[in-house]
Amino acid sequence: MHPAPPAGSTLDHIGIAVPDLEAALAPWTALGLVKAAEETVASEKVRVAFLPIGPGAAIELLCPTEPASPIRAFLDKRGPGVHHLCFKVADLDAAIAELRGRGYQFAGDAPRPGAGGCRVAFLHPKAMGGVLVELTTGHA
Ligand code: CO
Repeated sequence: MHPAPPAGSTLDHIGIAVPDLEAALAPWTALGLVKAAEETVASEKVRVAFLPIGPGAAIELLCPTEPASPIRAFLDKRGPGVHHLCFKVADLDAAIAELRGRGYQFAGDAPRPGAGGCRVAFLHPKAMGGVLVELTTGHA
């Protein structure tokens, strides 16, 4: 029996596509936010910075590291701005199975490696009213 993992999901981070990571930090640090972590996620071809915005939640700035990055394609198409919302679920594999069972489609491999050593999955925006939604188990 599957539990109902998507219920009770909590916001983990808001992903924002940016063309220049250092320049993109300025308006958020002006708000008093502080960069807590920065890393390259090779599998996604991005460099990311996390700025906590409350208990368990953060802003994630995503900058392409090469022309083939999906974030480069997003920037070219839509310009800088909100790219995805990420929710933390208790059991990622159960959440994927549960949602697939209800007919929801995932974009690319699900699960796959994400920032911070987390496993993540992206629900296709078509399934979520045009919003790209990432699921994660959160940082260990
Ligand atoms: Co993310």
